[in-house]
Amino acid sequence: MTLESFIKKIPKAELHLHIEGSFEPELMFKIAKRNNIPLKYSKIEDLKKAYNFNNLQEFLDIYYAGANVLITEQDFYDLTWAYLVKINQQNVKHTEIFFDPQTHTGRGISFDTVIKGILKALKDGKEKLGISSKLILSFLRHLDQADALHTLQTALPYKTDIIAVGLDSSELGNPPYKFKKTFQKAANEGFLAVAHAGEEGPSEYVWSALQDLNVKRIDHGNKALDDPELVQFLVKKKIPLTVCPLSNFKLKVVKNLKKHPLKTMLDLGLKVTVNSDDPAYFGGYMTENLLTMANALNLTKEDIYKLCRNAFEGSFLSQTEKNKMIKDLDAFYLKNK
Ligand code: ADE
Ligand code: ZN
Repeated sequence: MTLESFIKKIPKAELHLHIEGSFEPELMFKIAKRNNIPLKYSKIEDLKKAYNFNNLQEFLDIYYAGANVLITEQDFYDLTWAYLVKINQQNVKHTEIFFDPQTHTGRGISFDTVIKGILKALKDGKEKLGISSKLILSFLRHLDQADALHTLQTALPYKTDIIAVGLDSSELGNPPYKFKKTFQKAANEGFLAVAHAGEEGPSEYVWSALQDLNVKRIDHGNKALDDPELVQFLVKKKIPLTVCPLSNFKLKVVKNLKKHPLKTMLDLGLKVTVNSDDPAYFGGYMTENLLTMANALNLTKEDIYKLCRNAFEGSFLSQTEKNKMIKDLDAFYLKNK
């Protein structure tokens, strides 16, 4: 089997995906029309041309504008369902999805509307496509702690539907410790925790996510490589890093794909995984991310297998569920390596 077929067919888990970032322009135009909401661009091609970013903030401005057309429970269902259909074609068996409730509650859409639409699609994803999933509530770090605490309170009736809390949006100037109290409360309520750290922000933010927020995974974590002591800690504690190569390239976190630290991370013994982040904006889902990196860094089948295994191991599935999925992954690898 060629490396390309191997990458397409290998069973995958995705651990870093913003559902609002899977909003493809075609669906965005359809929903905008349905809801009578004017878009800044009259043609899909013009919108796509705007997907040229110099940094995280330039992307976020466009990403939040796109999310503005999501109004009804059906909109959130359609958004989530479209993502599940897409990843089903890529053999993604398990996905852990971020949603940003404040992006919607801040413009008058209720938390209930957002989560009900997403959950209904995830249930259909399980029943009709056999895709297993977990949901992660991500706080917007450019907003204040009071807003995050209020959001957490609103989420409590859905406690059993949400596995973890996360932290995303504008990293620079918004260190993890800003949300220490929120994450403390979330832990007391039984939520696990993850946080975006070291995407644009310094390695100190990765330490802060670990020490102040007690996260179980670091989302991105590229800048951790600047601090050898931190690398040693991450290796020793087996903390997964949910790395997003195409995102890093599009947001200029790396200069070019050949400079991406993915292989270095693997060789250092870090529990690194590959993810798509915001696939509709960055040019690809799981398969495209893996294929692009395999080409840029000359990855082997063993490297790809390791990346996929790390994702199942680093997921928030139960040990029994992990074992079952890893057994299938190992069988695929043994047969096709
Ligand atoms: N929200 C959506 N994608 C993000 C990213 N890559 N970093 C921070 N916040 C985000
Ligand atoms: Zn992200």
